[in-house]
Amino acid sequence: MEIILDSPLDMHLHLRDGDMLQRVAPLSAQTFSAGLVMPNLVPPVTSKEMVLSYKERIQEATKGEVFEPYMTLFFRPEYDYDFLREVKEDILAIKLYPAGITTNSEDGVDNFSVEALAPVLEAMSELGIPLCVHGETNGFVMDREAEFIPIYERIAKRFPDLTIVMEHITTKEAVDALVRYDNLYATITLHHLYITLDDVAGGLLRPHLFCKPIAKRPEDRMALRKVAFMAHEKVMFGSDSAPHPRHKKEAPGCAAGVFTAPVALAALAQIFDEAGVLDNLQKFVSDNARRIYGVTPPKKEVTLLKEPFEVPPSYGDVVPMFGGETLRWRVGSVL
Ligand code: NCD
Ligand code: ZN
Repeated sequence: MEIILDSPLDMHLHLRDGDMLQRVAPLSAQTFSAGLVMPNLVPPVTSKEMVLSYKERIQEATKGEVFEPYMTLFFRPEYDYDFLREVKEDILAIKLYPAGITTNSEDGVDNFSVEALAPVLEAMSELGIPLCVHGETNGFVMDREAEFIPIYERIAKRFPDLTIVMEHITTKEAVDALVRYDNLYATITLHHLYITLDDVAGGLLRPHLFCKPIAKRPEDRMALRKVAFMAHEKVMFGSDSAPHPRHKKEAPGCAAGVFTAPVALAALAQIFDEAGVLDNLQKFVSDNARRIYGVTPPKKEVTLLKEPFEVPPSYGDVVPMFGGETLRWRVGSVL
């Protein structure tokens, strides 16, 4: 049994920089045709020069592969219209992080009143630059995403022409919000389709499954599966593959992030196959994103085979999801 995917896209991807970039970027570029690259470097990507030089480093690290890095800018409330007009041609979206909510987000936003954000959002809306949001408050960890929904709603209502992507949604509340506003969309990760909080902390603690937003309840996972498996037109795949070196994960203060890039397509094929919806995978992992973002990715044909894939226990010092386990699907040829 096999399935052929046309230009799979990863619309939420952390490629890091330096040695880590060299290690992980090729793993995405081998199987994905393009990816939306997150800007939470240290320091964050906040200027045209930073976007362009980061893009060059990614292209250098993925030389020889057909792979287009779609670049993002780190949201700052002080960006003005002229700057955004200038940088628009080099980015696909702007990513908004609440200050301190996740890895390298200290320079994020701490005032979410629509008034404080309005000038930038208005400019983005006018220029047609999508807004990607890490939607969590600093409330109780299980409630953070649901508490953030009113903020999404305020922005969606006030800026009906602004494309808003709720990143890596994890709750049924977010799934419900999706259909209430025409301009709200969402990415869904691989790990949130597979796991709940039980897998992270219900038995022995599994640091390599610890991420933000944290995996939630079985009913939340069910809501995510429902819209992903039907390839609901407003959801798309974004792995949120977020590599950290082993010493940062297997540590008293474990860094948040699950590294899924090298297993993403195989594990997606497996779970879509098990649900009997393999035919919807193309839409979930490519067509929906093309329509939502209006992009035409480079051509890449990826054949997935229903054959065992022994996932390496690690890639250098990074441990992937399913490391050391055997998946039932694997990537065959890539043309
Ligand atoms: C991401 C990272 O490590 O950069 N971590 C995570 O847990 N997902 C940041 C993010 O997307 O929240
Ligand atoms: Zn992320």
